[in-house]
Amino acid sequence: MFRPLLRWMTALWVVLIPYAVSATEQLLLLPQPTSITMTEGHFHLTPATRLYVADGLWNPAERFVEDVAEMIPLKAPRSLTRREGGIRLSLDSHLSEEAYRMEITPQAITIAGGSPAGVYYGLQSLRQLVVQHRNAIPCCTIEDCPNFAYRGAHMDVVRHFFTVEEVKRYLDILAAHKLNRLHWHLTDDQGWRIEIKRYPELTERASKRNETLIGHCLRSTTYDGIPYGPYFYTQEEIRDIVRYAAERYITIIPEIEMPSHAQAALHALPWLGCEEQQVEVWTHWGVSPEVMCGGKETTYEFLENVLTEVIDLFPSEYIHIGGDECPKERWEECEHCQARIRELGLKDESETRTAENQLQSYLTGRIERFLAKHGRRIIGWDDILAGGVSPEATVMSWQGSKGGIYAAKHGNHAIMAPMDYCYFDFYQTKSQEGEGLAIGGWVSFEKVYGWNPYEGLTAEEQPYIYGLQCNLWSEYITSFDHLQRMLLPRLAALAEVQWATDRRNPATIRTRMEQLRRLYEQCGWSYAPYYFEGRK
Ligand code: ACM
Ligand code: ZN
Repeated sequence: MFRPLLRWMTALWVVLIPYAVSATEQLLLLPQPTSITMTEGHFHLTPATRLYVADGLWNPAERFVEDVAEMIPLKAPRSLTRREGGIRLSLDSHLSEEAYRMEITPQAITIAGGSPAGVYYGLQSLRQLVVQHRNAIPCCTIEDCPNFAYRGAHMDVVRHFFTVEEVKRYLDILAAHKLNRLHWHLTDDQGWRIEIKRYPELTERASKRNETLIGHCLRSTTYDGIPYGPYFYTQEEIRDIVRYAAERYITIIPEIEMPSHAQAALHALPWLGCEEQQVEVWTHWGVSPEVMCGGKETTYEFLENVLTEVIDLFPSEYIHIGGDECPKERWEECEHCQARIRELGLKDESETRTAENQLQSYLTGRIERFLAKHGRRIIGWDDILAGGVSPEATVMSWQGSKGGIYAAKHGNHAIMAPMDYCYFDFYQTKSQEGEGLAIGGWVSFEKVYGWNPYEGLTAEEQPYIYGLQCNLWSEYITSFDHLQRMLLPRLAALAEVQWATDRRNPATIRTRMEQLRRLYEQCGWSYAPYYFEGRK
């Protein structure tokens, strides 16, 4: 008699408590929405709550049911009808593509989006409210839309490999922060991780290395003696991951590095190099002198054949062609490269506009035109600026912001990913205490959060900044747990800069982070403790 009564009273308490605090209630969403207007009352979420969805919105509805299943099991979604109540999803052509408006009344939660992606972002906000308020969601109206069209994060699966399931968890994390691009670094000196049917040697021979460096690449010459690999994704696995990302409104941008960071490919196919001598899949980290030959026609054929399969796998408009850190010593000595330089009439024009750098620009330009014939565009690291770029190329600024600023001033689009704010392989605290080995540098949560991505740009130049991205190189990151701890919580700081650039809310970032941390725990995502401990 007593126990059921107690349980009933407890249930009532849970329902009544939110009413008691409603006057002071804040919605602690991250990233910060454009506007939040609090109104009276609560919507009660129960296992009887159902989503009612307009045409084309089944996917966001199903994702939401999955996302909140552990907190509250909801009924399977149904088509939107005249019936009242529930969580109601629709499109509104007056909203911009990724925008949404959410209205929460005691009777219903109504989310309208400019596209299914907008509805999905509204549901991600609602998911945060469910974590925070459980079954009693405070009534309010939220208007929201992102500042940057490109909100990216990078993942290096070469230096250390991550499984299909781990890539999917990574995508889940990006989606919860309203990111919409994964830059997937698939090839480098230390491995080739994408199946290319035309060249089976790449995954047979270049997806493994004999051993791996122990310690920091600037200080160590000791290796572990343990073969690493074979590790790669089959084309079927890639299609599965691309589909999984699309269901979360994330476009995957594959990166195929050329002509540098390609020693693994040269191991499998020695004719890609200038000298054609046998090189190993690299076991060290850093910048290798072994690069693809820029003179021989066979290099161009290879790249076009590889990219033909890549664009078949990835619907992304943009393909990342790498282009960073290309030492030119092999090219300076190579008869094929020098013959091509003569044929093209390239001359040293300045310290950066050398004939060899212009040969790299020729390679980039040819690949750009090949991709353009297939309706695709290139992104390259800011190094591609050295020998000159076409106006169509998008530049990813990593050596500080100067490459992106230069690009924007010359009418090229740029993605800002400067090391000093966006390299999440850098240390998170100044003391580095307890962090384990990292590449170097210092990028704390606060530093990311305080970054002004428009610094150095006039109002006219700012629209050339297509978006912002963090880069997470995995030389010193050997497990998915560690990868998550490098990503979180810094990704949350970046997400607010990407989404809410000029309406960041530093006054509440700490309390909002405490709420978002509950989502991380709910999802079982690992995160670094430093920000929460007050260490920077
Ligand atoms: C880079 O970090 N080498 C782009
Ligand atoms: Zn050459």
